[in-house]
Amino acid sequence: MSTSLVEEVAALRAQLLDWAEAYFERDAPVVPDADYDQAMKRLEALEREFPDLVTPDSPTQRVGSAPLSEFESVEHRLAMLSLDNAFSSEDMDDFHRRVTERLGAGDVAYCCEPKLDGVAVSIVYEHGALVLAATRGDGARGENITANVRTISNVPLMLNGEGVPPYLEVRGEVVIPRDAFERMNAQARAADEKVFVNPRNAAAGSLRQLDSRITARRPLTFTAYSVGAVEGDLPAAHDAILRRLSEWGLPISEYMQTVSGIAACDDYYEALARQRDTLPFDIDGIVFKINGLAEQEKLGFVSRAPRWAIARKFPAQEVSTQLLGVDFQVGRTGAITPVARLEPVFVGGVTVSNATLHNADEIERLGVQVGDTVVVRRAGDVIPQIVSVVEGNTSGSSPERAPIIFPGQCPDCGSDVAREEGEAVIRCIGGMACSAQLKAVIRHFASRKAMDIEGLGDKLIDQLVDDGLVGSVADIFRLSQPQLAALERMGDKSSENLLASIDQSRSTTLPKFIYALGIREVGEATARALANHFLELDALLAAPTDELEGVDDVGPIVARHIRGFANDNRNKQVVGDLLALGVNWPPVTVASGEGPLADTIWVVTGKLESMTRGDAEQRLRSLGAKTASSVSAKTSSVLAGPGAGSKRKKAEELGISIVDETEWLAMLEEMG
Ligand code: IVH
Repeated sequence: MSTSLVEEVAALRAQLLDWAEAYFERDAPVVPDADYDQAMKRLEALEREFPDLVTPDSPTQRVGSAPLSEFESVEHRLAMLSLDNAFSSEDMDDFHRRVTERLGAGDVAYCCEPKLDGVAVSIVYEHGALVLAATRGDGARGENITANVRTISNVPLMLNGEGVPPYLEVRGEVVIPRDAFERMNAQARAADEKVFVNPRNAAAGSLRQLDSRITARRPLTFTAYSVGAVEGDLPAAHDAILRRLSEWGLPISEYMQTVSGIAACDDYYEALARQRDTLPFDIDGIVFKINGLAEQEKLGFVSRAPRWAIARKFPAQEVSTQLLGVDFQVGRTGAITPVARLEPVFVGGVTVSNATLHNADEIERLGVQVGDTVVVRRAGDVIPQIVSVVEGNTSGSSPERAPIIFPGQCPDCGSDVAREEGEAVIRCIGGMACSAQLKAVIRHFASRKAMDIEGLGDKLIDQLVDDGLVGSVADIFRLSQPQLAALERMGDKSSENLLASIDQSRSTTLPKFIYALGIREVGEATARALANHFLELDALLAAPTDELEGVDDVGPIVARHIRGFANDNRNKQVVGDLLALGVNWPPVTVASGEGPLADTIWVVTGKLESMTRGDAEQRLRSLGAKTASSVSAKTSSVLAGPGAGSKRKKAEELGISIVDETEWLAMLEEMG
């Protein structure tokens, strides 16, 4: 055995212990799980090959690390184990082969469940009453967090129903759903409090509060996935046990499914991988468990994991990479956003080379500098973000470590920059004299949901502004065919096509026009609400703030932005020019009380299968309904797809009827 191998094993062990300490003891992971898993796999492989190198304190021999001293320590009657990982369908085939060989059986039933990315918790019920809850800790001993777990709203304090065993230890995962996490962080940001890196860390931090009143304010939810020590009778299959738990009031995963054979496991994995981004909570893989308890018993355990279960991991949503530099981008409203240039990495299923750093406060909070190794997160279709800096990056590799300096002048036009009272954002004060702002305004104006000018893409907009052909959005309608044809890479045919689509865009709708104006904080839904309320553009632009605030979706800040826009002489000129140049729309007709859904107000939320939310709202309006973007006592019905969160909850609280997509489509069919 070479010295270098011995050294590698020692280094891996020290590294893993360090990372585990940061993760478990300080709730402050310094590397993404994927890096940890990879190092652990390597160490396991080396220890398998050279068993002499295994030491009792190797991280491969431990599940986590010792509990913090502040919480009372509790011993688990049965150790809380970990799971072996699989990273490919080949790994799954190997697992299946090992299982079938040991069982001497061909067909195996597997129970498939999402691997929830949260915190493992054990809850003990005696004669149906919750008496103890503990973290996993090091697997043998955990921390007594009973007071905290009692605050989780979907954890029953008493189990109800037939046959509850006198002693029942339920195990499961505590998570914070994504939408609740976003809300919680937005509130923290507004109050200048600590924001959490991801839902899992937020759940871990919330559960380890010594003051359970704080925990009670956190949106934690529990999902049971197995039992631990039990005195009494339970069914003989894993899925049947979980269903029994559910009958007694415990929450279980609605995605649980029992299948036969390993090919069906692959299908389940693929199906959930496709849904991953739209699920209401983070998952980092799928857990497959042999369903029969007799088979589970026969298979038994290896040191830290059962032989009867495996976790197939999804591609990581957090990985580390190097920050090569920072660019400053100027947006439509002059906001200057620092954008991180990264050594390209594969994360969340795509290669990422840029990530947002949000603003100066965020850079300070992260303590990030150019040259640092950073953790990049890309979950769902959210823009990639830098969530933390990997500690102790002293590699000295290029670029050298250097602080990120926010520009004192606009990087595009050189105008001064300013930060409004109470705002995190720094803005260029150049207005439309700043070509970066002008370009962004035009991109927004021409975009599909606004004026929808086909063929007017980013490159062309850059050229038109840089060549001085367009100085305001109104100038788009003043372009001539010879001017366009003279542009680089623009022939006669394409200039004619572009002119035709500019011409076509003149006929629009009032909501689209209002949205296209790019007033701060006025998105599509607000633009629609404004159009429905005021019916005429003049009425909107003349409205005082108190009337504006009477419109759905409009609060004091949005009202102030609308007034600010309408009072600006330059904006008045541009709007006047646009109308003079022939931009027009048909009169706005509000639901006139006709149609089968007249006098009803609908809210559409969550993800729909058969159409976009916008299309669904259109259908509803065509049947006479009004649509709104938030649920209130006035709402008649809510159409909720998967992933619906706070709106659905509010509707439930208010007792408003909620229909799913299938029911809704059937209803439309009935109405013809
Ligand atoms: S079963 C003996 N099922 O994944 C096996 N675990 O490394 C016990 N996890 O910390 C675990 N979702 O907290 C199981 N549906 C699920 C799970 C799940 C998440 C976590 C668990 C454990 C880790 C395993």
